[in-house]
Amino acid sequence: MRLNSKSAGLMIAGLLLAGTAVNAEGLSKDPRDIAIGKELAETQCSRCHAVGVDDESVLDEAPAFRDLAKHYPLEALEESLAEGIVTAHEDMPEFSFASKDVTALLAYLGSIQDH
Ligand code: HEC
Repeated sequence: MRLNSKSAGLMIAGLLLAGTAVNAEGLSKDPRDIAIGKELAETQCSRCHAVGVDDESVLDEAPAFRDLAKHYPLEALEESLAEGIVTAHEDMPEFSFASKDVTALLAYLGSIQDH
């Protein structure tokens, strides 16, 4: 059998889908990812942002993480987290995460969204 490019593409898509447990939004629901993401948010982001389900942001201008999905889909953050989030706000330092940490952070964000 000769693989044409279309079936190769389908095989790759199948492998990607099989590889990770994802929810409808495409975020990991793996409890280990969520735990790592929570740790990252608490250590790196909580001095400005509310990172939990009912805390207040230290900096008024910093959006509470549980509200992020109200503004845009969380997947939209994936690239920014990997390449470095740059906001218009000078208070926010530039971050750039390894892809496994991006997965973890997004998994955590997904777990706390207040839709
Ligand atoms: C020193 C304070 C500070 C820290 C630390 C910080 N942020 Fe922010 N962040 C801000 C502020 C202020 C804003 C609002 C920026 C604006 O409105 O332009 C913001 C906005 C954001 C936004 C929304 C961006 C947008 O375009 O709407 C995201 C997402 C975000 N931060 C993620 C994070 C993550 C993830 C971390 C930890 C890795 C983090 N921030 C750490 C201050 C901070």
